[in-house]
Amino acid sequence: MGPTPPDREHWSRVAAEWTEWARSPKHDAFWAYREAFIAYLGRGSGNALDVGCGEGRLSRELKALGYRVTAADTVAELVETARQADSAHDYAVADARSLPFEDGSFDLVLAYNVLMDVEDLPATLREIRRVMRPRGHLVISLVHPFRDRGSFTGPEPDASFVLTGTYFGRQRFEGMEERDGLRMHFAGWSQPLEAYAAALEQAGLAITSLREPVPDPSSAREHFKQWARVPLFLWLKASPLAQASS
Ligand SMILES: C[S@@+](CC[C@H](N)C(=O)[O-])C[C@H]1O[C@@H](n2cnc3c(N)ncnc32)[C@H](O)[C@@H]1O
Repeated sequence: MGPTPPDREHWSRVAAEWTEWARSPKHDAFWAYREAFIAYLGRGSGNALDVGCGEGRLSRELKALGYRVTAADTVAELVETARQADSAHDYAVADARSLPFEDGSFDLVLAYNVLMDVEDLPATLREIRRVMRPRGHLVISLVHPFRDRGSFTGPEPDASFVLTGTYFGRQRFEGMEERDGLRMHFAGWSQPLEAYAAALEQAGLAITSLREPVPDPSSAREHFKQWARVPLFLWLKASPLAQASS
């Protein structure tokens, strides 16, 4: 067995912290976008794979939408936490670069705020493509690549957004967020939109839809209001190329 990959090592270390952060009502930005994302996913009845499922919140949404859900994550503790909450129908502890499923197993693959964390984006997308049905769909949420490279000068809704350095190139990011008594240590990779588009293209996946959502004004807390001016998330759908071009 080789050394533990850095992505698994990081997420194993913060698994308990992440579970508390993700499950605390209305705490994470996810909640201000939840309804729009559920509408973007849409109802379905096929086999869905939630790659990098974490504690299982998106698996539970997919289940409620009618899918038969497999929840997979590289961190065993998180898969166990997802299982305890009855998040999915099946579970797997697996690195997204090497998924324990037959070719063409899934109608829908969801990668929700995971692709920024993986060590090898091209290999991950090739593996996701392999387990997708020829007419399947991949739904992706990313922290918007532009957001990663800058920051607001303060907490006010109209604070300036400042870009220091460059938008281009692949960079490691590490950051501690602290809010309402909870702490979360995020770490992963920041790369421009073109890196995602190129990796999708190389994996034989064509982008069929793109959204830059804004937070739901009725559920957005004060500190999320800035994200109505600068996109926090980027949502994409992609399908195997043969289908997209036919
Ligand atoms: C920000 S959390 C998102 C979890 C979940 N998708 C959600 O939104 O609640 C990122 C997740 O990606 C998982 N992850 C990171 N690298 C991975 C890899 N190479 N293969 C599978 N999962 C990975 C982490 O363990 C963690 O659960």
